[in-house]
Amino acid sequence: MQVRSLAILGSGWHPPLFREEARALLGPIEVLHQRMAFFTQSNEVIDRISGASLIDEALSSTSRLWVYNQKITPDEVASHVAEWSQSFLPEGTFSIRARRLGSGVGSLSRREIETMTGAKIFSETKPVNLENPDHEVVVVLAGPDNSPSQWDERESGELILWGLRDPASIGTYSGLSPTERPFFKPVTLDPRLARLLVCLSFSRGKPSVIVDPFCGTGGIAIEASNLGLQVLASDLDSRMVEGTRTNMEWVSGKSEYSVKRGPASQVHEMWGSIPGCSFVFDPPYGRNAWASEDGLDLLLGALVSARAMSPDGTVCTMLPSSPEALHGPISDSLRVMGMGWGPLKERIIETGWKVSVCSPVRVHKSLSRLVVLCHPAD
Ligand SMILES: C[S@@+](CC[C@H](N)C(=O)[O-])C[C@H]1O[C@@H](n2cnc3c(N)ncnc32)[C@H](O)[C@@H]1O
Repeated sequence: MQVRSLAILGSGWHPPLFREEARALLGPIEVLHQRMAFFTQSNEVIDRISGASLIDEALSSTSRLWVYNQKITPDEVASHVAEWSQSFLPEGTFSIRARRLGSGVGSLSRREIETMTGAKIFSETKPVNLENPDHEVVVVLAGPDNSPSQWDERESGELILWGLRDPASIGTYSGLSPTERPFFKPVTLDPRLARLLVCLSFSRGKPSVIVDPFCGTGGIAIEASNLGLQVLASDLDSRMVEGTRTNMEWVSGKSEYSVKRGPASQVHEMWGSIPGCSFVFDPPYGRNAWASEDGLDLLLGALVSARAMSPDGTVCTMLPSSPEALHGPISDSLRVMGMGWGPLKERIIETGWKVSVCSPVRVHKSLSRLVVLCHPAD
């Protein structure tokens, strides 16, 4: 089995969830920066990057330089990259692209690094071609994020990393609007979040089937199908069931699917027993969202039924929570679905699942949602 090492760069939209998605899809990662990780994996696992929601790009043959408060000039950076290029940049045309993560490194200018590095590497067998190069060298200037939109337990120092842009990231999430689908309703989950929930459900290996017991317009079913995963979707509302079917025909995904009408508390009876499922859903909640228990019984009922259907499965969902969730570590007193997060986790354990990951996402000024990944409690 051939293995390769890659560095991946994450979307600035949500660095903690970028790292969770990378762990779920790729296994153990070395976190180099809030938005950068390094890992070694087989090609079969690396192929998953192209379906990711929050991975921006992948670089191969990388080298790195930590900058510990010392000053570094563009000329020094260019010399390091030029030395590396002698061993790692294949012959053919090339271009240099510098990009910043967070605040970048000191006052290093991307433009200066690009021109100086290009000039040092340029030769008869390695000419520059900015339009259509055979090889793209990416130089990442990564620094702390000085104005994060939410709290992140991981802090970042200054690091310069460079490598060859790898095709592994081609096809990662590019953001089609759900309003282009034939059946759209305001409840439709943001496609990027739907894709993220499906990707997180790879955390214990590729799921056998994605089950969405609250499928609505089919936002999760569409993303799962685009990744080639079999889908079983259901909803209590027959208009949603028809709408999901229409959307699934329209998307003509790469896998089998079935859509039925029925309550989320009965999925085990609707579909029978199937090992290795991932239950990915966005449950309904009341108008007061995080402050009321409306929706709590529906959630717990769906979890009990999911466990009966697939005792070795996973659950990946989103729960309404107080916006405080965004400003610090998640405490047991945080209000989630009308109760404290600590007691709610206990209620979830009673259904046979245990929370392994939770991370908040901002919805608007007065609402956030916790992305929650669960595994069997025993
Ligand atoms: C937040 S929406 C899901 C949106 C969906 N993820 C999408 O992208 O369109 C919740 C859905 O749960 C459905 N629902 C409400 N109560 C239900 C129940 N007891 N069993 C199954 N579905 C239910 C609603 O009809 C609604 O379509």
